[in-house]
Amino acid sequence: MGARKRYFTALKGRESGKEYSPDEVRYVCEFDFGPLEVKYDYEAIARDLTIKVIESRGPNMWRYKELLPIVGEPTVGAQAGFTPLVKADRLADRLGVTGELWVKNDSVCYPTLSFKDRVVSVALSRSKEFGYKIVACASTGNLANSVAANAAAAGLECYVFIPHDLEPGKVLGSLVYGANVIRVDGPYDKVNRLCSEVADKYKWAFANVNMRPYYAEGSKTMGFEIAEQLGWRLPDSVVVPMASGSLLCKIEKAFNEFKKLGFVENTPVRMYGGQAEGCSPIAQAVKKGIDLIRPVEKPDTIVKSLAIGNPADGFYAARSIQDSGGFSENPSDEETVAAIRMLAECEGIFAETAGGVTVAAAKRLFDTGKLDRKGCTVLCITGNGLKTKECLDGQFTTYDAIAPNLAAFDKLFDSIGNGHGAAVPKAQPALA
Ligand SMILES: Cc1ncc(COP(=O)(O)O)c(C=O)c1O
Repeated sequence: MGARKRYFTALKGRESGKEYSPDEVRYVCEFDFGPLEVKYDYEAIARDLTIKVIESRGPNMWRYKELLPIVGEPTVGAQAGFTPLVKADRLADRLGVTGELWVKNDSVCYPTLSFKDRVVSVALSRSKEFGYKIVACASTGNLANSVAANAAAAGLECYVFIPHDLEPGKVLGSLVYGANVIRVDGPYDKVNRLCSEVADKYKWAFANVNMRPYYAEGSKTMGFEIAEQLGWRLPDSVVVPMASGSLLCKIEKAFNEFKKLGFVENTPVRMYGGQAEGCSPIAQAVKKGIDLIRPVEKPDTIVKSLAIGNPADGFYAARSIQDSGGFSENPSDEETVAAIRMLAECEGIFAETAGGVTVAAAKRLFDTGKLDRKGCTVLCITGNGLKTKECLDGQFTTYDAIAPNLAAFDKLFDSIGNGHGAAVPKAQPALA
């Protein structure tokens, strides 16, 4: 795959506006130590990228490659993205939605069943352009899985750093690819701090530390796809789960870029964020109407993928929610589990705990009138339920095994009153 024209022209301090060469490895502004954004030449992009060009390309996130910060052709994530946008009519009925309800289903993103395959595709493609041979990350689980899998496929050595108490499915989901899994005795924020030091000392490419400006841009593809799959239009509202807050900000950036390029009409989109009650620094700020993020020292929730106490993009996510006229909710773990079941029963989609937060937050937002039941709403489901299945422990009982004959089945069928399905749900929790 040959080199292509460069469409991203600089890295730029988000606050200071100071510009840096895109060929330097740099992730904070030397002027104010703030985060860096990628700057693009939108005129050049507009000359080369059209809806027709996009539609002529393969069904993966790189169909928008001019809007992603790599120099040559992508080398990682050839099949990532372009996940289904599902019209969720049965869920809409359950939630009393009379407008359109859609689920953006990244629980089936390739290869590791979360939206993190999008960010990793960009971070690792760019890491390879810089010549790195060792890649790494600080992760709450999904990112580690994705860096591990994509590094394996790209022939890169890999170290993933995670809190010591992650779900077994997420730990195994990194080990299986041959990654070095470093479990750290402490919550995510401590893992992240350690990774900054390791990145400085060992000069590895950390997807979400020194490659963060590139990594973060990968999340835009979820927004691009939502607009394209809605028929080149924007929804009225989007509900996004938040950990660092980056995904929410980048979905909004994607919508704005499509407006700028004239691919969609300039209609407003309200941004809504969900966090778990036991770790909700961004949601709490939004609910108080402030943008000051008060860090959570000790996250206490089953939603481990969102358990970032001191979110890097929290301030920007809170701002984007408030400025767009959206809101944020922080459902309890019980509501999250009930919402996982509701999504599964209504739409046949098994989401991880972060997806439960999205649906449970949306339910609260609809119930309180913060989210309009008559509009077009997209719920972002960002990870797969098989990775966090322990959250459903004790929720179901199965029938005793029967002898392999019809009489045994007849007897069981009678005993369950010509029953419903193969499992007996325990009393339905609050959300039903
Ligand atoms: C499944 C899932 N959804 C959402 C998020 C939130 O991502 P962000 O840090 O961009 O807010 C994460 C982060 O780890 C995640 O694993």
